[in-house]
Amino acid sequence: MKNVLDHMKLPIIQGGMGVGISLGNLAGHVAREGGMGVIAAAAIGFREPDFYQHPLEAGERAMKKEVEKAKEIAQGNGLVAINIMTASNDYEAMARAAAKSGCDAIISGAGLPLSLPDYVPEDGPMIAPIVSSGRAAKIIMKDWLRHHNRVPDFLVVEGSEAGGHLGFKPEELKNHTAKTLEENVKDVLKEAGDIPVFAAGGVFDKNDVKKMLDLGAAGVQVGTRFALSVEGDATQGFKDVLLNATEDDVLIITSPVGMPGRAIITPLIETVESGDRVPPTRCIRCIRICNPATTKYCISNALIKAYYGNYEEGLFFTGSNVGRINKMLTVKEIMDELNPNA
Ligand SMILES: Cc1cc2nc3c(=O)[nH]c(=O)nc-3n(C[C@H](O)[C@H](O)[C@H](O)COP(=O)(O)O)c2cc1C
Repeated sequence: MKNVLDHMKLPIIQGGMGVGISLGNLAGHVAREGGMGVIAAAAIGFREPDFYQHPLEAGERAMKKEVEKAKEIAQGNGLVAINIMTASNDYEAMARAAAKSGCDAIISGAGLPLSLPDYVPEDGPMIAPIVSSGRAAKIIMKDWLRHHNRVPDFLVVEGSEAGGHLGFKPEELKNHTAKTLEENVKDVLKEAGDIPVFAAGGVFDKNDVKKMLDLGAAGVQVGTRFALSVEGDATQGFKDVLLNATEDDVLIITSPVGMPGRAIITPLIETVESGDRVPPTRCIRCIRICNPATTKYCISNALIKAYYGNYEEGLFFTGSNVGRINKMLTVKEIMDELNPNA
């Protein structure tokens, strides 16, 4: 088995953040500092000129470019991974493309990535599921062992304070009754055996990192802080919306992906949460379960608008600790603040 930690100077993964928030620049700089930088595959081709005509080809092309860029920036340090959401319609094609992209690992959540080992050969990149409970870890590991004779190279446990889509019931999130990250990490560690486990969701500084290491985690995954780094791939408009947000601007929403998510309250969110619809104008069939005739809004379109900083029409995913971040730091400064040994 490959040991992910052999290639990391610091046990820190920068979480994949879809639709342009984590691409080759951010991932490359995190890797250069000795962590694992993650390029998100969700709508990765959105800046290619033929995105709406050929979303898959545009995505594969963009993925290749972003991995090359990240590797060049990393200069042989750390690791570069790709994050692919299980819920996406092009999951198989993107996973196969990622396997050949030259990345070091493929990380997959937003559903159970049961078929991932089918698409990634054993001598290819490392493969890792994102789970939100010990139960999900158990199901995936049992399935991979039975059908593919494989175990994950590492696991990411994403708790209820994370940004993006969340593997919890909306009521648990709204009423703060979901298990804590500590409890979930302990549950996953019981299933994981020797497999390294990384804890995600609300990890802010080295004290949080130490807490997770003391529990037995191999490291952490951090999203929102890196989204707002100088090297973060989003536009300044996106970053400003999050930098100006307080705790009170954050809401648990229901996403067209069929899962709850954590996002900034924007005019779009107010409209759809009050029951109104913003019918899609163009559809690239990005999400398996999304029906364009009935969906409340187009999630790809809303995330693209957010990337460009469009406060009115954008969907701005965020972690719960966004209110604590009001200044952009460099990736190196963030890594230093997270370094448990410094
Ligand atoms: C803007 C944004 C976009 C995200 N997009 C994805 C995604 O495409 N796929 C995914 O697995 N997780 C996604 N996440 C979750 C992060 O990878 C990470 O696990 C999470 O944000 C960790 O919590 P933190 O933000 O409190 O550090 C996203 C998070 C944010 C803030």
